[in-house]
Amino acid sequence: MNTSTPSSTLSPAQDQCAVSVRSLSKVFGSGAHAFRALDDVSVDIRKNEFFTLLGPSGCGKTTLLRLIAGFEQPTSGAVLLDGEDLSAKPPYQRPVNTVFQNYALFPHMTVSQNISFGLEMLGRPSDEIKRVTEDMLRLVRLESMADRRITQISGGQQQRVALARALAPHPKVLLLDEPLSALDLQLRKDMQLELKRLQTDTGITFVFVTHDQDEALTMSDRIAVMNGGEILQIGTPREIYDKPQHRFVAGFIGEINLVPVQAMGGQDYAISGVGTLRADDASAAAKGGRAVLAIRPERIALSAPSAGTLPGVVTNVVYHGTDTIFHLKLADGLELRARSQNNTAKIQSFAKGDHVGWSVDAASVSVLADDPS
Ligand SMILES: Nc1ncnc2c1ncn2[C@@H]1O[C@H](COP(=O)(O)OP(=O)(O)O)[C@@H](O)[C@H]1O
Ligand SMILES: [Mg+2]
Repeated sequence: MNTSTPSSTLSPAQDQCAVSVRSLSKVFGSGAHAFRALDDVSVDIRKNEFFTLLGPSGCGKTTLLRLIAGFEQPTSGAVLLDGEDLSAKPPYQRPVNTVFQNYALFPHMTVSQNISFGLEMLGRPSDEIKRVTEDMLRLVRLESMADRRITQISGGQQQRVALARALAPHPKVLLLDEPLSALDLQLRKDMQLELKRLQTDTGITFVFVTHDQDEALTMSDRIAVMNGGEILQIGTPREIYDKPQHRFVAGFIGEINLVPVQAMGGQDYAISGVGTLRADDASAAAKGGRAVLAIRPERIALSAPSAGTLPGVVTNVVYHGTDTIFHLKLADGLELRARSQNNTAKIQSFAKGDHVGWSVDAASVSVLADDPS
C-alpha cells in the first residue's frame, strides 16, 4: 500500500464497508431508444459515513439511489450491503430506507402516527413502538408537536417528521434524495446542520444526493462527484475542492481559474507570454506537454508588480462585502480572477487599469490534463 495516499481515497476494508457498489450500469429503454443512465460505477461507502452523491441534474444520482434501494434492477453489476449481494432481495427486505424529495407523509395522521406507522407495519411490539416513537420525536425535536396533524406544522417540521419516520426502524443505511430542495434558504441551512447531527447521533450510514455544491461541502464526510452517468472523483470535501482531478469537478465546485500551460519539466509550467508557475502536484505533466492549471481565486495574492510575481492588469473590481473579486487581464488575452478577503478595514486595494503582480503558492495549484473533460 502506498502510505502517502490520503486514506479517504483508498477503498475501505470490506468489513468497514456498509454499501459496496460494483461496476454498476443501468440502461433505460432498448434499441435506438436505449439510454445509459449509469456507466460502470463503483464505490465503497463506509459504515457511519455521511456520503454524498453530487452532480448536475440528469447525471444519474437518483438512478444510483434507486438501484441501492432495489426500486430498479441493474443492467449489469451488483450492490452489496455489509458484504452481502442484494441482487435477489426486493426493496422491503433490504435494511435500507429512503427519504424522498416530496416526503409523502399521511396528512390525516398526527406527527406521532406518521412516525410509528412503519414500525406497526413491521409488527413490532407496542411497547417498543411507543419507546422508539418517543425517541424519534426527541431526536428531531418535535416532542411538543406529537399530536398535531401534518397539515398543522411547517414545511421544515414536515421534513423532520419524514426523517424520523425513515430513521425509526433503524435501517443500516438511509438514502436521502435531495430532501432539502423544497425548503427555503435559511431553513435549508438549519436542516443541513440538523441532518449532520442526526447522522452523528444515530451512527447510521447516510447516502445523500444533492446538486448543491455548498450543501455537499458542508455536510459530507466524503463526496462522489458525478457527471454523465459516471463518478469522476471521490474524496473528502477538502480533497475535492483543493485537488480536483477533472475540469468538470474543478468547475462544478466553487469558482476556479483554468490556465493553459506548457510543462517545463519538474514542477514548472510556462504560461505563454506571462511567465512560469510552480505546481506542487504529483500528477505532473510530461515535459513539453500541454496541461491546464486549476487555481482557486482566493489562493491568488495580489501586490504591486515586483520580482517573484507575474504581471497582470486589473480590468474590473467587484465588491462583495466579505470579499472583493479582481478581474485581471494577462498577456495573450488570458483572464484571471483573484478573490481577496476584506478582513481588515485598511485592506490594500487596486483599481481598474492598475498594473499588478500576482502569485500563488505551489501547493494551491492543481495540474489537469489538457482535454475538455
Ligand atoms: N425510467 C427511466 N426511463 C428512461 N430514462 C430515465 C428513467 N429514469 C431516469 N432516466 C434518465 O436517466 C438520466 C439520469 O436520471 P436521474 O438518475 O434521475 O438523474 P439525477 O437524479 O442525477 O437528476 C436522465 O437523463 C433521465 O432522463
Ligand atoms: Mg434526481
